[in-house]
Amino acid sequence: MAETTYAKGLEGVIAAESEICQIDGANGKLYYRGYSIEDLAAHSSFEEATYLLLNKHLPSEQELKEFSARMRESRGLAQPVLDMIAGFPSGGSPMELLQSVIAYLSGTVEHQIQHSDTCNCRRTLHQVAQMTSVLAAYHRFREGQDYVAPRADLSQGANFLYMLHGKEPTPQEGRIFDTCLVLHAEHGFNASTFTARVVASTYSTCYCSISAAIGALAGFLHGGANERVMDMVDEIGSKENIEPWLDKALAAKRKVMGMGHRVYKAKDPRAIVMENMMLDLARQRGETYLCEFLEQFEKAFRARMEEKGKPIYPNVDFFSGAVYTLLGIPRDLFTPIFAAARSSGWLAHILEQRKDNRLFRPKCLYAGPEPRQYVPLKARRATTGAATA
Ligand SMILES: CC(C)(COP(=O)(O)OP(=O)(O)OC[C@H]1O[C@@H](n2cnc3c(N)ncnc32)[C@H](O)[C@@H]1OP(=O)(O)O)[C@@H](O)C(=O)NCCC(=O)NCCS
Repeated sequence: MAETTYAKGLEGVIAAESEICQIDGANGKLYYRGYSIEDLAAHSSFEEATYLLLNKHLPSEQELKEFSARMRESRGLAQPVLDMIAGFPSGGSPMELLQSVIAYLSGTVEHQIQHSDTCNCRRTLHQVAQMTSVLAAYHRFREGQDYVAPRADLSQGANFLYMLHGKEPTPQEGRIFDTCLVLHAEHGFNASTFTARVVASTYSTCYCSISAAIGALAGFLHGGANERVMDMVDEIGSKENIEPWLDKALAAKRKVMGMGHRVYKAKDPRAIVMENMMLDLARQRGETYLCEFLEQFEKAFRARMEEKGKPIYPNVDFFSGAVYTLLGIPRDLFTPIFAAARSSGWLAHILEQRKDNRLFRPKCLYAGPEPRQYVPLKARRATTGAATA
């Protein structure tokens, strides 16, 4: 038996083999199935990237046509799903809604036989197609507006903007948002993907795996940094306040949102693409203040960190919130959008897990009391500590 080591948070532990995503953190490179994120962002639609993640190769024209048609015909939401979204308690968060809807969707399609090592991707693909529809419907209902039915002639990204705003986006807006989905589709063995694979390893359904992964992404250590970047921009208030705000924040050892990455020790390649899209959109709209603010902020932050010998670069979240804001997307949908995009990567990992499955069952290092005598209730003395559960 191999020697067992303990790594808190499984840091540095190799928990599975995967052919899906390669991250070269030192050089700021990211590849989906061997294709660079720069090429995919420049040339692929979200549908094509999803095909690639699920099928291991880029599609031919005919394959893409059929695959896109399948995704597009799955976009619409059935009335029971719309009723569920409309009735979701207003105190719940859109991530909780998304998690619940995914589980609910399982009952709205023909039951799948998933107790084997094969998964019927044809049916589960509709989850990927429908997640942005769910978010658009949720936002419209809470604004007192009607559901907008999807359009099959638009890309996944353009269709989301159409269903959200009830107005067709410009080709540039549609393309930019679709590329945002490509950029977030996959990123290796992060917490939510690992969660999806752990659930899949029990041969639970794709619905259970994906709703569990959404739960993992909901935590602010994983999803959510882009919302916090925008909160930070609001807190700072004006470009003039950037320098004094940074002095205070860094003196207080506060983590600056959208900066730094556990894996990338160079500029996150997705951040470079996202920054360019932000600039294009802002110039085209004539709304450049937010971009100027972020660029000035990045310069000031990096100069301070370099002075301390800590080169820290922006990650994708530093710019994505600005892109979404320019596209008129409400802030509390930023993390759910991340989930909608990542669902294609999760599905690829679920399929890969099932192909060569081994139930995840790590050990824990027991640190509790040694075996001890059970004391009958009446014989116990009152304890002083407060109950913890
Ligand atoms: C993502 C994150 C947790 C990585 O942290 P990490 O692995 O500790 O990063 P590094 O080891 O490269 O950090 C080197 C140093 O820079 C500091 N640093 C890193 N990111 C920083 C940030 N955003 N703001 C201020 N200081 C930061 C670290 O505290 C560390 O300082 P130390 O040597 O005094 O301990 C961290 O950068 C962070 O919290 N970023 C903000 C949140 C965010 O944008 N998350 C989205 C990630 S996609």
